[in-house]
Amino acid sequence: MIEAKGVALRYPDQTLALKNIDLEIQPGELIFITGPSGSGKTSLLKLFLGMEYPTSGYLEVMGQLMNPTQAKAIRKLRRRIGPVFQEFKLFPGRTVFENVLLGHRFLHMPKTDLKENSMNALEKVGLAHKAFSLVENLSWGEHQRVAIARAVARKPLLILADEPTGNLDKENALKILNLLASFKDNKTSVIITTHATHLLDCEKYDKLIAIHHGVLQLERIG
Ligand SMILES: Nc1ncnc2c1ncn2[C@@H]1O[C@H](COP(=O)(O)OP(=O)(O)OP(=O)(O)O)[C@@H](O)[C@H]1O
Ligand SMILES: [Mg+2]
Repeated sequence: MIEAKGVALRYPDQTLALKNIDLEIQPGELIFITGPSGSGKTSLLKLFLGMEYPTSGYLEVMGQLMNPTQAKAIRKLRRRIGPVFQEFKLFPGRTVFENVLLGHRFLHMPKTDLKENSMNALEKVGLAHKAFSLVENLSWGEHQRVAIARAVARKPLLILADEPTGNLDKENALKILNLLASFKDNKTSVIITTHATHLLDCEKYDKLIAIHHGVLQLERIG
């Protein structure tokens, strides 16, 4: 699913965000990534999504080489990746359903199943009853569920969630983590960054990875 060998990421301002990353993730794994603020968690997910490219080393995601010469193929690859990132905001003034549907706008996916998939995704996240509410009227936790529905409606093989529990209380944070984990199956991998490691149950995950100053360390195998 993901193979990284000696991957580094240096931003244009010379910040070395990730150093010599070696990592292998298999289909069907649930992975948590933790680490202090600024350690490189978001940067790592951005590499997996093709929003940044490694500045050295080798990275493959679902068989696709991640480098700038592959931009077109990487756009296609994104149809199979479901990102839950805070910077991908919901569209204001639109309903929950429209937000899930519009999540596919730039992916050029076949339109036929989109409506059905979007409603199914809302059911899976427990928000079908809010499908026609405006997103402005949602609680923060519901907002996160819409973001998750948007990511899973395309039936991704890889789900990348960046700090999805944000400022939720413990009970709701756990619900969101469990919801994301529920999309793991033998083909689908789920990767989640979180500060909330105290909530994690190692029975459920395959690996817990820690990052410190851009250096990755396998903390624990579940
Ligand atoms: N676009 C960018 N240009 C330059 N430096 C960046 C850029 N994005 C992130 N960085 C830097 O790279 C390092 C890693 O940042 P990153 O956002 O990956 O950390 P993080 O672990 O996700 O932190 P947080 O827990 O606060 O979200 C930090 O030093 C950050 O300042
Ligand atoms: Mg981050």
